[in-house]
Amino acid sequence: SDSASLIADGAEFLADRPAILRTIAAPGGEDAQQLRMSANLLRRRAVGDAVHLRGLIEFSNHCRNNCCYCGLRRDNRRLARYRMTPAEIVSAAERGAALGYRTVVLQSGEDPAFTGPMLAEIIREIKRLGLVVTLSVGEREPREYELWRSAGAERYLMRHETADPELYGRLHPGQTLAKRIALLKVLKQLDYQVGTGFMVGLPGQTPETLLADIDLARELAAEMVGIGPFIPHPATPLADSPGGIVDQTCLMVALARLALPYALIPATTALGSIDPQGRELALESGANVMMPNLTPRLHRADYQIYPNKICLNEEADHCRGCITGRILGLGRIVADDPGHHPLWLERN
Ligand code: SAM
Ligand code: SF4
Ligand code: FES
Repeated sequence: SDSASLIADGAEFLADRPAILRTIAAPGGEDAQQLRMSANLLRRRAVGDAVHLRGLIEFSNHCRNNCCYCGLRRDNRRLARYRMTPAEIVSAAERGAALGYRTVVLQSGEDPAFTGPMLAEIIREIKRLGLVVTLSVGEREPREYELWRSAGAERYLMRHETADPELYGRLHPGQTLAKRIALLKVLKQLDYQVGTGFMVGLPGQTPETLLADIDLARELAAEMVGIGPFIPHPATPLADSPGGIVDQTCLMVALARLALPYALIPATTALGSIDPQGRELALESGANVMMPNLTPRLHRADYQIYPNKICLNEEADHCRGCITGRILGLGRIVADDPGHHPLWLERN
């Protein structure tokens, strides 16, 4: 089917907003199951059965921010902080290339010790390995984003976390949703493939704000949308809040697929951490990306953004096999192309 009709088909599912809001409020019901099945079918028509793998390198857990949900927040003194050296980061990327990953994601807390030029040099070295580079290092200066784009980075992940400006303000001391959105637009203008996304189950979140999360991802024309359950971390102010649930998270994945038929949507590690089948359920609700961990084992346990994170004791090659098995077990295939967004590829 041609792209215009496919996009229209997706939009039609989302047209009845009162019905969608009722479904978000009852994510275990029949209507939610139907939407997840429809999203899975639309995913198949738009982007096929391939699942793209992105090797995740968590290179620093230092963070200047104090996000109320995150174990890396600066006020968490119970965490042993680490920084990988540039050589260690490049060697983790080499390992990823050897495992057949076409993309590495460089992720960290907001750590100004990694200056713009330092990260640019790391990006250039990784590009020499023939890999696609995705960055996920938070809010930085537009000229730094520009420098990294020129160094060869093609994608940037920065979730908007919640589209409710008031809730955003409460969860992010000293930060605003307006600034986050402005920076996402800067990234778009620099022609990164931009990933936004949000958590499901944040205290104070409502069906309305969750639907606003989908609207915002569509307004931004996000190439990627990362959606995971909020998982309460004991060393944060939200320690006693209930976390997000699998059904509601998978429903939001489905709505993101219907809103953005060609998007790259991960079955998140957070979903796999609250349910052993969580990632599979997301892959059957519209997701088409997985992000196996490439962080050296020495540091994995210290990148504890939430508790009970999976794969803390597994080597990278074990996760490679595990993920492949899960994908094939669903009758899907592992992509062998770089996995760029089709509309971005047309422009580049
Ligand atoms: N510091 C960068 C940033 O914030 O964009 C990148 C790393 S940050 C740890 C990556 C993502 O982790 C955030 O966008 C957030 O959605 C997610 N996250 C943080 N704490 C979480 C929690 N307790 N449960 C689930 N996801 C969480
Ligand atoms: Fe830092 Fe990102 Fe965690 Fe916020 S979510 S505290 S910016 S690592
Ligand atoms: Fe790491 Fe399954 S993905 S063990």
